Amino acid sequence: MLAGKKILLIIGGGVAAYKSLLLIRDLQKQGAFVRCVLTPAGAEFVTPLSVGGLSGDRVYQELFDLTAEAEMGHIELSRSADLLVVAPTTADLMAKMANGLANDLASTLLLATDTPVMIAPSMNVRMWEHPATQKNLKTLKSRGVLTVGPDEGDMACGEYGYGRMAEPEVIADAIGDHFEFAASAETTLGTPQGLRGKRIVVTSGPTHEPIDPVRYIANRSSGKQGHAIAGALVAEGAEVILISGPTRLDAPSGCTLRAVETAEEMLSETLNALPADAVVCAAAVADYRVEAVAENKLKKDDENDARTLSLVENPDILKTISQLPNGRPELVIGFAAETEKVIDHASAKRARKGCDWIVANDVSTGTGTFGGDDNQVTLVRDAGNESWPKMSKDDVARRLATKISEALKP
Ligand code: C5P
Repeated sequence: MLAGKKILLIIGGGVAAYKSLLLIRDLQKQGAFVRCVLTPAGAEFVTPLSVGGLSGDRVYQELFDLTAEAEMGHIELSRSADLLVVAPTTADLMAKMANGLANDLASTLLLATDTPVMIAPSMNVRMWEHPATQKNLKTLKSRGVLTVGPDEGDMACGEYGYGRMAEPEVIADAIGDHFEFAASAETTLGTPQGLRGKRIVVTSGPTHEPIDPVRYIANRSSGKQGHAIAGALVAEGAEVILISGPTRLDAPSGCTLRAVETAEEMLSETLNALPADAVVCAAAVADYRVEAVAENKLKKDDENDARTLSLVENPDILKTISQLPNGRPELVIGFAAETEKVIDHASAKRARKGCDWIVANDVSTGTGTFGGDDNQVTLVRDAGNESWPKMSKDDVARRLATKISEALKP
C-alpha cells in the first residue's frame, strides 16, 4: 500500500525519537518516499545527520530557512505529501495542533495543510492522562486526525502507564491501513464514483441543548444513519462535510468533520459549509432549547418540587436551507422519523419545509431504528415514492448515495 506514497515525518522531542529512525527505514522498505522535519526538541534526541542519512534527503528544521524556502516553500512541503506523520508527538505538539499555533516549522506545516495527519503520541503517563492533553486529543480526533498508540508500559522516566510511543512497525501498519482504507473509499468495488467534484453537506446525530452547565436535553439518535450516508458519499467521490452532534462514532475516513452540540451551532456550521451541491439533513435536531441557560448548576428546590423549564423553538436547519433565497443547494434532502401514517406525514413535511426529497422511516416502538443497525425507509419525492425493503443503514446509505449521484448528473 505504501509504494510511491509521499510521507512527511515530523520528529518531535521525545526519548522515542530513536524509534522514528527505524520507522523511516520501515516505510522506505515498503516503497514510500520519506521526507523529514526535525523539531528543535527532536534534535536533542536524534541528530539531523542520522535522520538525513536514513531518509537520503535534506532534513527540514527551521521555519525561516532561506535556502530551503528557495528550494521548496514550507507550505509546499506539507501540501505535497500524501500523509503527515508526527512521531513522536509530544504533549506540546498536540497542544499546538489543537489550538492552531504556528510558531515553528512543524506547527506551521501542520496548520497550513489539509493533507491527512497521523499522530503517534509519546509522553509521560501523567502528561498523557492530564485533562488538557485528553481535551486536545478529543479536539484533534474530532477534526479527523488519525492516532496510533500510545502503548502501556515502563517509561524512560521510571513510571509505568500509557504514554509509550507505538512501535515503528505498528505505526507503519497504521499508515498502510490508512492508505488501504482511502483507496477502498475511492474505488469501492462497483462504485461508479458519480459524485466526483460534488460537495455535499450532511448533518448527523442528536443535538444537546444545555439546561445548565451539567445538564442538557437530548434524544436517542445514534448518528449511525447520517454517518453511514457521509461515508457512502465519500465512496462515491464527493467532498463531504459532516456536521455532527455528539455521538460515539468516528467520522468516516475522508470526510471533514465539524463537531457541534446545539441546533444553533449546527445551523451556523451548515450555513458556513455552503455553497454545496447537496445537503442531507439526517440529524435529529432538538425542536426546542431552554430559553435561559442557567449559569450555575440548578439546585434541587425542596420548597417547590415542580420545576418548569421555559423552552423556545430552535431554528429549522432543513427548512432554512430549503428556502434560502440565494445559493440554495441543487438538492436538499430531509429525514422524517414518524410513528404512524409515515408516508402521509412525510409528504406533508416535504411540502412544509420545501426540501426536494424526504427519506421517511418508521421509528415506532419495536422497529429498533433508533440506535439499531437496520432501517426501512421510503424515499418521498416528485418522481414518486419508493419503499425500500428493510436493510442495513450502510445499504440505505449506499442506495441513497447512488440516487443522489443520479440526480446531480450534469
Ligand atoms: O420536523 P421534523 O423534526 O420531523 O423534521 C425532520 C427533518 O428536519 C430531518 O431531516 C431533520 O434533520 C430536519 N430538522 C432540522 N432542523 C430542525 C428540526 C429538524 O434540520 N430544527
